[in-house]
Amino acid sequence: MNEFRPGLEGIVAVETEIAEPDSEGGVLRYRGVDIEELVGQYPYENVWGLLVDDDLGSVMPDPEPYEPAPLTGNAPADLQAETARLAGEWKLGKLNEISDEQAREDLGRLSSQMMGIVARSARLADGAADPIPDDVVAGGRTAAEKFLLRWRGEADPRHVKAIDTYWICTAEHGLNASTFSARITASTGADCGAALSSAVGALSGPLHGGAPAYVKPMLEEVAAMGDPETWVRDRLDAGKRIMGFGHRVYRAEDPRSRILKRTARELGSPQIEIAERLEEVALAELERRHPERPLKTNVEYYSALVLDVAQIPPPLAPAMFACSRVAGWSAHILEQKRTGRLFRPAARYVGPASRSLESVGA
Ligand code: COA
Repeated sequence: MNEFRPGLEGIVAVETEIAEPDSEGGVLRYRGVDIEELVGQYPYENVWGLLVDDDLGSVMPDPEPYEPAPLTGNAPADLQAETARLAGEWKLGKLNEISDEQAREDLGRLSSQMMGIVARSARLADGAADPIPDDVVAGGRTAAEKFLLRWRGEADPRHVKAIDTYWICTAEHGLNASTFSARITASTGADCGAALSSAVGALSGPLHGGAPAYVKPMLEEVAAMGDPETWVRDRLDAGKRIMGFGHRVYRAEDPRSRILKRTARELGSPQIEIAERLEEVALAELERRHPERPLKTNVEYYSALVLDVAQIPPPLAPAMFACSRVAGWSAHILEQKRTGRLFRPAARYVGPASRSLESVGA
């Protein structure tokens, strides 16, 4: 096959047993289990076990003591750099030279540490210089509680519920850009730290992991203007996108958006009313302008409200997304290791024909 598809849309690049986004039915299943059945029943760390080990009784390990290199307070950058650095500090083996069991252990150690790196970076961005002692963090019962303790020294139960729900909903979603990056790096036989840090880089862009950062200011702008219809029309007329709408895979409602909307309402999000009003207007206008392509509410829209309940500053949204995706990335890195096949797609050359040095300024 040598047909070119921009963005690889619709191209099947891997076979996976990890997650099944049922695009027509509006359901997302992790290893066959509907995520609706997981939220509120199991904490994130067990969902990590389901995705990585196919076992809800298996949990992501607790983070081990470690001293990070000086951080910057820019969480995605800190996370990408520290994850790669840990591979050196811990002398992690190359994926093509270690056993599956060793790779699983490396991924567990890295996953829990990555959450701690984001919490430390967020604490620094808040202007707090003193790290929280490990014994305070160890008092947390769940990964979400430990995360908040590491960040703020306290864990409000509403914030814990918001983060746990968000992490479970966004833990895994098939071959999105960051997961593909992780698999590509893993396919070269690189170590788990290199594979996970590649994924963090891919996630940091606004078209993938960054949209919630834009949703809150967008809702504030719409609320201040008080006229969602005009706001939507003006924005689309200017050729701009409405953040939190549209998806490459889902043509029906995104099930994660449904759960997060319910959670935002349950937790008393102050922006729920304006969000629902804007959603209604945006969906109608997007359908009018794109009858050929369903553009529905995506996961990022109500994620922004749930993260706001937990007082997560919008710029931290991509790093929060990275915390949840450590489960999906780890599962895919292991799955990729088992296939043992290097990715090497082809590029069709469409540049100039053979030409002289003089023609390029020699
Ligand atoms: N607002 C307005 N128009 C949108 C739109 C949005 N959120 N999403 C897609 N469109 C329009 C595009 O402008 C394009 O119109 P055109 O054909 O007239 O140029 C058409 O729909 C198809 O867009 P395309 O970029 O090819 O769709 P895609 O399926 O590849 O894009 C996203 C998926 C997520 C990248 C895209 O919907 C988007 O940018 N959404 C906003 C960012 C966002 O919420 N990201 C989080 C994703 S979980």
